[in-house]
Amino acid sequence: MFSDKDRAHFSNLETPFYYYDLNLLQSTLTACKKAASAYQFHVHYAMKANFNPKVLAKIKDTGFGADCVSGGEVKKAIEVGFVKEKVVFAGVGKSDREINDALDQDIFCFNVESIQELQVINELAEKKQKKAKVAIRINPNVDAHTHANITTGLDENKFGINSWDMPACANILNISANLEFVGIHFHIGSQITNLDVYKNLCTRVNEFATWFEDHGFKVSILNVGGGLGIDYYHPDQQIPDFEAYFKIFADFLEVKPYQEVHFELGRALVGQSASLISRVLYVKNGKKKNFIVLDAGMTELMRPALYQAYHKIENISQQLAVGGVQSPNLIKYDVVGPICESTDCFGKEVELPESFRNDLIAIRSAGAYGEVMASHYNLRETIATVTNEDL
Ligand code: LLP
Repeated sequence: MFSDKDRAHFSNLETPFYYYDLNLLQSTLTACKKAASAYQFHVHYAMKANFNPKVLAKIKDTGFGADCVSGGEVKKAIEVGFVKEKVVFAGVGKSDREINDALDQDIFCFNVESIQELQVINELAEKKQKKAKVAIRINPNVDAHTHANITTGLDENKFGINSWDMPACANILNISANLEFVGIHFHIGSQITNLDVYKNLCTRVNEFATWFEDHGFKVSILNVGGGLGIDYYHPDQQIPDFEAYFKIFADFLEVKPYQEVHFELGRALVGQSASLISRVLYVKNGKKKNFIVLDAGMTELMRPALYQAYHKIENISQQLAVGGVQSPNLIKYDVVGPICESTDCFGKEVELPESFRNDLIAIRSAGAYGEVMASHYNLRETIATVTNEDL
């Protein structure tokens, strides 16, 4: 929730803007670190979720590594001070230039997503007379039971190497002098709220680890990816249950004494710590529908348009006017943005206090895949970010 002081400050600022609660971010990071440390688990932050410099600085200071998905992210991770030994580079389409740059940076490892990519990394490493550390990203065909667009671990998904290609993979690893196999990697999807799916993942990880060891490879790293979801319906219950999450892996993974378990969390670390703050431009009351037209749109937060994702919407001006209690006069509105697309809608039939031009609207849980997925469609400008430390 926002304090009266926050809301008073917001009313003086130009909208829309992203508001970050860095104290909440810190508490979330501390909770995650504590829960992971109980089992000596290692966490790499999935940078794609949010690469705001202030957010990255806090995460780096926690001691987490960085999970990168492009040359740009590898570069940024190193620039902001993540230690190279904790930088991993995943992604289904790494270009030669990106691979070369990552080899030059001596990052910890490449999570390799195809047999051809293994061959290319070997060739490029050979030219540099280097040995590239590689983990094999395996597509385990485990259903994450999340939105189809953010499911990544099924046979029909483009990610990872399929199980039937493991013998070919082992063969390439055996004949490639410039590759050093370090382990296996998985990531089955995002916004996972049914933790039982991770039990199925553990079963598959155990099977593949055994397969590689039976074929003469030492599996030092078990990287189980990320995906832990957040509660978009209750943004004030802010810190995900990291203890329950890590316990599943502690209970179901078969970890040998020389093996490290790595996680790549994005959303769970940053999701609840930001809101998109916007202003009501117009209210249109119709016969069938009432619309609130905001000055923020899908260009600032794309998730509702792209995945019909739910984000809680609050009218913070009306809360302020009645001392923090919602006005009893509730009306159903479609809350839309200014972009020339019908999908530019943050929520349909959203029950809100009667709203007026210039009211401030908060779209909650926007810290993950919010600011980073913004676009300049309609020649929209990049919006400001404000933190609690700026107020
Ligand atoms: N590791 C890999 C290999 C990934 O592809 C991802 C996310 C993660 C880790 C981090 O997943 P997380 O812990 O954040 O769930 N734009 C979508 C989400 C796309 C996720 C892509 N991969 C959304 O807004 O819901």
